[in-house]
Amino acid sequence: MTAITFTVRDVADAATASSQCAIVPVFKERKKLSVSAQQLDKSSSGAIKAALSLGDFSANKGETQMLAGAGGAKRILLVGCGEMKKFDRKAAREFTQQVCKVLGSTPATDAMLHLAALGLKQDEASWLLGYLARHLTTASYRYTQTVSKPKAAMRLSRFVVNNSGSLTSRAAKTALAEGKAIGLGVNEARNLADLPGNICTPSYLASSARKLSRSHAKLSVSILEEKKMRELGMGALLSVSAGSHQAAKLIVMNYKGGKSSQQPHVLVGKGITFDSGGISLKPGAKMDEMKYDMGGAASVLGTMKAITEMELPLNVVGIVAAAENMPSGIATKPGDVVTSMAGITIEVLNTDAEGRLVLCDALTYAARFKPDTVIDIATLTGACVVALGSHATGLFANQDKLAEQLLAAGTETHDRAWRLPLWDDYQKQLKSNFADLPNIGGPGGGSITAACFLARFTEDYSWAHLDIAGSAWNSAPKGATGRPVALLTRYLMDRAGR
Ligand code: BES
Ligand code: MN
Ligand code: ZN
Repeated sequence: MTAITFTVRDVADAATASSQCAIVPVFKERKKLSVSAQQLDKSSSGAIKAALSLGDFSANKGETQMLAGAGGAKRILLVGCGEMKKFDRKAAREFTQQVCKVLGSTPATDAMLHLAALGLKQDEASWLLGYLARHLTTASYRYTQTVSKPKAAMRLSRFVVNNSGSLTSRAAKTALAEGKAIGLGVNEARNLADLPGNICTPSYLASSARKLSRSHAKLSVSILEEKKMRELGMGALLSVSAGSHQAAKLIVMNYKGGKSSQQPHVLVGKGITFDSGGISLKPGAKMDEMKYDMGGAASVLGTMKAITEMELPLNVVGIVAAAENMPSGIATKPGDVVTSMAGITIEVLNTDAEGRLVLCDALTYAARFKPDTVIDIATLTGACVVALGSHATGLFANQDKLAEQLLAAGTETHDRAWRLPLWDDYQKQLKSNFADLPNIGGPGGGSITAACFLARFTEDYSWAHLDIAGSAWNSAPKGATGRPVALLTRYLMDRAGR
């Protein structure tokens, strides 16, 4: 997979500008054919107007038509945009989807978008370019590592924006670069979560983090081994890896893009590289999908990649609690009581509720960075999939302001989250006769009681929890989504004033 190169040009004549595919947005108001469309129409002996008058193309939203080009433009791709007045973000997303779809199946290796035809204001034009660059980059993702004949790669290698009149070329370049950085982060997350559990182990995640740090001077990585974790008293985290031959790893990535006095934002990812359920073994159906139980960890690595690519002026710490959850003769058993790093004792009533066990110790560890905010990301509960399906990530927060900022970042990037309550009333479901806390909270409100469990370890700082059990994975066709890298990167960009 070679990344697509994005460039910006100011082209006077769309007909002479050389391109294998000229992309021309067309609105339903046909009388107002854009300048670039008129130029291309003329050079192609009226091919655009003919397509419209013959009724082959009506410029409806979601409609596309590829025409043979002439002059510099080898092909002309008409993209229907509906009514000009109604071209909102939803229409812009649909436009992006169509462009990605067509460019994914044409042999053209470069394309030129005539942006001015959309008549967008600066801010909206720059939003669209960011969104386009992100989606073209993710559209070029292919899982290749364990297949002999991977699906054909996208041919597109260069995407040019003719921005004449729409926005400054500096703004266009920034938008494209940021969108591409997010796309690369999403692809990193998808790849890690797509990898099977026998390859993507806790040590594989550790070496992926190390590899990432090697290409960026501002990013350093340290790995805490089980011995160190034992010294720190991380009995909850270690109880999860107890039954596995794979040693747990606590991966700490430190990105120093801001002033040294600036408090960092900390991201904590659940990194269960395979969740069998442990002694509380899961049923067989779809158990293979539990290789993506490190989707939270993958999103932390992906976000670190995105922010290092764009050199965000901010301090960010990424922590990954990596372990494999397996049954064995030395595995943790239901009824076992373990002591967390915070000193809180936990009765493990179900070894399949392991995510909160690794996270609680990682969240306690996060406090040493004197964080501005802490956000954990986890494929934590099946109940979240039942509640929200795959469209929204479940959001919990102990501060309204933080919740609102994350919701806004999700809306802006269309990587959306939905807030669920963390009310004290639910804490009553977490009672144990034999320890300070049980690791499960009974049948009702499973996502909420899981979040309530974590809340007991995060009282000293501003904290949010993202349950991505539904949003991180597509079941048909099977594959990781790379969510919520876009949301997290946007949240951090907002904090850095980008
Ligand atoms: N990793 C699972 C949650 C999950 C389920 C993620 C489906 C993605 C899709 C988690 O470790 C788990 O097993 N949770 C249990 C908790 C229960 C035992 C209280 C669950 O959701 O069933
Ligand atoms: Mn589990
Ligand atoms: Zn799990």
